[in-house]
Amino acid sequence: MTLTHTGLAVLILAAGKGTRMKSDTPKILHKLASREMVLHVLAATAPFEADRTVVITGHGADAVEACVAGAYPNTKFIRQTEQLGTGHAVLQAKQALAGFEGTVLILYGDVPLIGTPAIDQFLVDHAEANNAITVASALVENPTGLGRMLRAEDGALLGIQEHKDCDETQLDINEINVGFYAVDAAHLFPLLEKVTNDNAQEEYYLPDIIQLALAEKLAVDATYFEQDPAELTGINNCIQLAEAETILQDRYRIHHMTNGATLIDPATTYFSWDTQLGSDVTVYPNVYFAEKVTVGNGCSVGPFAHLRPNTTLDEKVKVGNFVELKAATIGAGSKVNHLSYIGNANIGDGVNIGAGTIVANYHHFKKEKHATVVKDGASLGANTVLVAPVTVGEKAFVGAGTVVRKDVEDNTLIVSKTKSVIKKDYS
Ligand code: UD1
Ligand code: MG
Repeated sequence: MTLTHTGLAVLILAAGKGTRMKSDTPKILHKLASREMVLHVLAATAPFEADRTVVITGHGADAVEACVAGAYPNTKFIRQTEQLGTGHAVLQAKQALAGFEGTVLILYGDVPLIGTPAIDQFLVDHAEANNAITVASALVENPTGLGRMLRAEDGALLGIQEHKDCDETQLDINEINVGFYAVDAAHLFPLLEKVTNDNAQEEYYLPDIIQLALAEKLAVDATYFEQDPAELTGINNCIQLAEAETILQDRYRIHHMTNGATLIDPATTYFSWDTQLGSDVTVYPNVYFAEKVTVGNGCSVGPFAHLRPNTTLDEKVKVGNFVELKAATIGAGSKVNHLSYIGNANIGDGVNIGAGTIVANYHHFKKEKHATVVKDGASLGANTVLVAPVTVGEKAFVGAGTVVRKDVEDNTLIVSKTKSVIKKDYS
């Protein structure tokens, strides 16, 4: 990889509503592997350390900007108040890119599976060809909804035609516009200013700059994207969102297995973008890792476990079936083997958590979460309820069925006993 591309500005379009998602959430805030779509695009471009990174926002701008700024604080935002098309969206960045010389890399926020190596290669091709515009194209089986690459009989590029503007013959073209553009900054805005909305959707189309540039005899090329076609999936509806999730999950599964994790049934193991697994981790079938989960060396997880955000397993922890962990730290060698919920808790080393143990961490009326601490070597019997806030001391022993409402001191036994009622000859 080259990664250093001198004079690079990255522009990401993220203003659209995403009508086809039929959702109140802006499209690019829908998540893949627990991370907003637009952040996947930013993550792919971050290694280039571009001189300027600009995101065009509009629909749900406050939420989109807060999300992006939280993860990538150096991003600049430009608002497109009316969504009049992708060409109009880019035009809004004219001021933000004033004085910039070099290549403007334009990406769509709804094409989130693109990887850094593919963009890198694309920028190298653009620089080597010394083009005014390079656009990425690909051959796909189903081009429905996408812009088609129009070519002359000799293969020369003629322009891009949007699906809704295609005639019957053009609809059969399966070379499509991926939605990545490298444009020489000197040409970008003069070309955009010539784009009209004389088309089926009455929108200002960014792809129209291709035809305009060709008319001006500028060097324009469409480079075939020979990368995994999966990287090119644009997401316009919830079906495509689910398809992209599947592709991404497969990538993470391969990543973790390559690093030595044993996934008994990879297809039922779900990762977040930031899941961290140590060495010699075994994951049994049907396990879900939410965001911010770290699993230490030698742990085993599942089957049927739900590790929710901010969970950390130290080394050699065993998390068994039907166990939910949330904002929990589990110390080395501890076991939570069966049917438990542990939330907002700090569990020490060598703790045994009996079957059916539940942390009552939430006060519904006060909407408050409270913390639980279980110190090293403690043993919790089956069906323990820990009513937070509460601390169980070192090597304390909680008898089965105990509701722990007060702190338990070190080396202490606590057991709630209710007398059993016995009626003979009852049935
Ligand atoms: C677009 C391309 C199409 C290409 C396809 C690849 C155009 C006109 N068409 O179609 O050639 O094959 O992507 O996936 O560019 N956006 C704005 N402001 C707007 C309109 C859109 O910021 O006014 C943003 C959207 O948030 C989205 C991106 O631009 O992230 C693409 O818009 P979308 O409506 O999804 O375009 P497609 O129909 O997918
Ligand atoms: Mg799209």
